[in-house]
Amino acid sequence: MSHKISRRDFLISAGGVTFLALTPIARGLFAAPEAAGTGMPLFTAVPYIQPGSGSLLIPGKEEMILAWQTENKDADFKFVYGLSKKYGKTAKITRNTRLSGDAVRLNYAAKLENLPLGTKVFYKVTGNGVTIAEGYTTTRQPRGTRVRFAAIGDNACQNEGNRNVCHQAYLSHPDFVVSVGDNAYNQGLDAEYSKYFFMVYNADAAEPGVGAPILRSVPYYTVLGNHDLGFNDPETKRGWVVADFDSNSGALGYYTNMYLPANGPAIPPSPTRIRGSAERLAAFRKAAGSRFPQMANYSFDYGDIHFLCLDSNLQVDTTNVAYQKWIADDLKNTDATWKFVILHHQPFNVGDAHYREQHMRMLVPTFEAGGVDFVLGGHEHIYQRSMPLRFAPDGPGKAADLYQEERLVPGKFTIDREFDGQNKTVPKGILHIVTGAGGQNLHDKQMNNNPAEWTHQRDNHEAYVSKLVSDRHSYSLFDVGDEELTMTQVDQHGNDIDRIRVTKV
Ligand SMILES: [Fe+2]
Repeated sequence: MSHKISRRDFLISAGGVTFLALTPIARGLFAAPEAAGTGMPLFTAVPYIQPGSGSLLIPGKEEMILAWQTENKDADFKFVYGLSKKYGKTAKITRNTRLSGDAVRLNYAAKLENLPLGTKVFYKVTGNGVTIAEGYTTTRQPRGTRVRFAAIGDNACQNEGNRNVCHQAYLSHPDFVVSVGDNAYNQGLDAEYSKYFFMVYNADAAEPGVGAPILRSVPYYTVLGNHDLGFNDPETKRGWVVADFDSNSGALGYYTNMYLPANGPAIPPSPTRIRGSAERLAAFRKAAGSRFPQMANYSFDYGDIHFLCLDSNLQVDTTNVAYQKWIADDLKNTDATWKFVILHHQPFNVGDAHYREQHMRMLVPTFEAGGVDFVLGGHEHIYQRSMPLRFAPDGPGKAADLYQEERLVPGKFTIDREFDGQNKTVPKGILHIVTGAGGQNLHDKQMNNNPAEWTHQRDNHEAYVSKLVSDRHSYSLFDVGDEELTMTQVDQHGNDIDRIRVTKV
């Protein structure tokens, strides 16, 4: 596979492309064409595509968001779009002021709406009357359409592995990307999104060691990892549970940089915790709008797949009946062939760093009853694939010990040891995947291809792991048809390190 991609090759990206008239002038800063006037602000995030609030696939009602960010200076932006380069529609642009450390940013979002499914949409952004970006993207594919997506975890930290995985994911031409969380290390701050996320996933070139312009080509879905929340709670001394706006006004960048489906509980049973001065909290709430705290949980369809995206952080009480019911109802109310759960804290991770955070196991019987095929998680910085399994908790265990990392949930495993993903392709149980090797420093080197290390005494040494690779960065690539799918794990250099085929019958 070629390691570099030319400007022209951007055109053959699966989902879309954006051509920029913006010029990089410093790290993370872009200038508008001189013709737009010297009064134009510098761009702190060049245009990027987001899914928008739609959940169900409704022909003619499809929505997408194109967002960008500037320094705190006014400009006259206009956004036109349509099904051809004649455009024809003008988008409503919202502008929110975001505090980001000592800086103030203006976050713009143009809403493309009432679109058909599976269709190219062309758009053009002008600033002070001059074109600054134009291109196209593709709306979600309807049922019956084969789709490809990349799943990446524990990623944006701006190291070599992170940039290479991003580059490889781009070369695979996915229709969309799903991240399993830890979007911007180390605290999910707005400034960290600028430095580590946008710089890599919306890079101006597609090259190893750089990244790729994924964000300006296809939608990027994600969930909240622990590093998206913040740092230690100074009151309880417990880690990764609270966003502290006194420490940094740019906390919880997830809720202001992302525009994700809006069908989760308006107030989740275990919402993201925040603290800080009234003034800073009010500024954040104004910038996030209803996205906070609702965007912690949501679901959406794409092709023949239903995705249920959950907040799995340490404040989440998985014994909460309201939370369990929302999940059960969501899974029951879809007619999709395939059902994926996306979360950060994988219930069945055998890696040493996060083995004890098992609270999401309490939801596994609900996932099973709802017909879930895959649970994709991260947190542990490895690639791990389980055998198909079913799990019955002995009881709640320590699932309700909120804010604790010791959340053991023992139970009974029923493991399908016949499935091999080659000849035996109908799994009896859920395939649990850890795809947390997307960039951050790797964990568990001693476990690499070493099955003797893959069991725990606290699980009675149940051997439920088929594959574990911890010596390289990687991401997961899914090709999904209506009755069969292929999952390929691809390393940072483009080598396939695991592949399974799954069929319904
Ligand atoms: Fe994590």
